[in-house]
Amino acid sequence: MKMPKLKISASILSADIDRLNDEMKEIEAYSDLFQVDVMDNKFVPNITPQAEILKKFDTKVPLDIHLMVQEPSEEYIKSFIDANPNLKINNITVHQEACSDLVKILDFIRSNNIKPAVAINPKTPLDAIKDVLDKVEMVVVMTVEPGFSGQKFIESVLEKVKELRKIKPEMDIEVDGGVNDKTAPLAVKAGANVLTVSSFIFKNQDKVGAIKKILNAIK
Ligand code: DX5
Repeated sequence: MKMPKLKISASILSADIDRLNDEMKEIEAYSDLFQVDVMDNKFVPNITPQAEILKKFDTKVPLDIHLMVQEPSEEYIKSFIDANPNLKINNITVHQEACSDLVKILDFIRSNNIKPAVAINPKTPLDAIKDVLDKVEMVVVMTVEPGFSGQKFIESVLEKVKELRKIKPEMDIEVDGGVNDKTAPLAVKAGANVLTVSSFIFKNQDKVGAIKKILNAIK
C-alpha cells in the first residue's frame, strides 16, 4: 500500500511577525501547508495571537491550524473558520489531552467541511486515540513537548509513528517539533508523511534552501 504524499507544513511560530506575509511568500512554492500554532497559556505555558492573526494572512497555501488549547469550544473553533474567507483551511488539529468530548469537537470540525485532526503529546500513548482514528483525517504525533519552537526532537516518539503507520497505512501522519535535515529522514523512515518545520526554516537566512535540505535528506 502506498504511503500518502510527503507534505511540508511550515509552522509560522518562529517567523518574523512583522514580516509575516513576506516570509510566507518567500517559501510558498515549497510549502504544502502553513501551520498556525495557537496557544492559550493554559494547555501549554505560552500564548500566541488567536483567530485574529488570520486576518493578516494573504496566501493561497492551505492552513494546518494546530490548537494547543484547553477545551476548545465550537464557537472558538468557528472564530478561526470565519476569520478570513480568502484563506483555505486544510485541517484543524485539537489535542486529545485537551478535549473532554473529543468526538464532538472532531465531528464539529468535519461538519464545517474541514479535515479534523488529533494531536498527542510525547508521553501520550497511541491507545488514547485508538477510538477516534476513524473520526480524523490526520494524526499529529508531537516530537517535542508543545509550547515552543526550537526544541530538541524526541526520537523515542517515532515508535508511535511506526505503530500508527501499520494500523493506518493511508492516513496523514504528521510529526511536529524539532524537525530538520537530520531528524526528517528518521521520521519519514518511521512512517510520517507530513513534516511540520518552524525554526529550521524561519531561523535560516535561506528559507527555501532549508526546505530543500530537508527534501534532499529524505530522498
Ligand atoms: C510547538 C509547535 C511546533 C513548533 C515547531 O508547540 O507545535 O509546531 O512550532 O517548531 P520547531 O520546528 O522549531 O521545533
